[in-house]
Amino acid sequence: MKLVITHSYEESAALCAEIMNEVFRKKPDALMGLATGSTPVPVYEKMVEAHRAGTVDYSKARSINLDEYIGLAGSDPNSYLYFMRTNLFDRVGMSLHNVWIPDGMKPVEEELARLNGYLDSHEMEIQLLSVGTNGHIGFNEPDDVFYDKYHAVDLTEETRRSNSRLFSSIEEVPRAAITMGIGGIMRAKQIAFLATGGEKLRAMKAVLEKGNVTPKVQGTVLKLHRDCTIFLDRALAQQIT
Ligand code: F6R
Repeated sequence: MKLVITHSYEESAALCAEIMNEVFRKKPDALMGLATGSTPVPVYEKMVEAHRAGTVDYSKARSINLDEYIGLAGSDPNSYLYFMRTNLFDRVGMSLHNVWIPDGMKPVEEELARLNGYLDSHEMEIQLLSVGTNGHIGFNEPDDVFYDKYHAVDLTEETRRSNSRLFSSIEEVPRAAITMGIGGIMRAKQIAFLATGGEKLRAMKAVLEKGNVTPKVQGTVLKLHRDCTIFLDRALAQQIT
């Protein structure tokens, strides 16, 4: 793991976006793994800026997303397909034919087979990642094991509470999701990981401390990845060290 401490979250996002842009300058049809949530929004903003400036071409880009809520259609503003379209896909001219994202409305087993079939036969060049307050990556919640493949998960109350900020009430937050497994994340050739905000302190301490790789804090597995760069702004990093 390589740790990069930046002056600001904006700088972390710009550096992350530049890594993504560089991947597509070298290989326009590369497969990138994408995350949703608040953290990557400025990364996508910077990728859109680069597309508009003509310094990178995402028209042939392929992507696969970490997760999606079960029971939300892609037209729902809280679905991750909707999020990805409005934050990135539709703004950089990506074709939905090249987009792999769990469909929360399909029979779950069928959907898992579709996603696992694709991921097993395609190599991810880069995975963009952040972390939940309980250390989850994707929706791999604290557990006794690490899962390899895409699977269905019950979301913890902590995750539902944290994500309820985007819904009108916690009751509306789905109770289950489909997520890429830790095995899929770890097979990406490169990982660009960023976090910000004091609510991520506990998780980031566990991710960065020596040793202690545990499924109780799933992000700690990143210690075993051969090319993972973590971007932390000074405000968060200072609280950790
Ligand atoms: C989303 C995802 C989650 C989020 C995490 C942090 O695709 O995989 O692991 O990265 O819940 O969410 P934010 O960025 O909203 O704090």
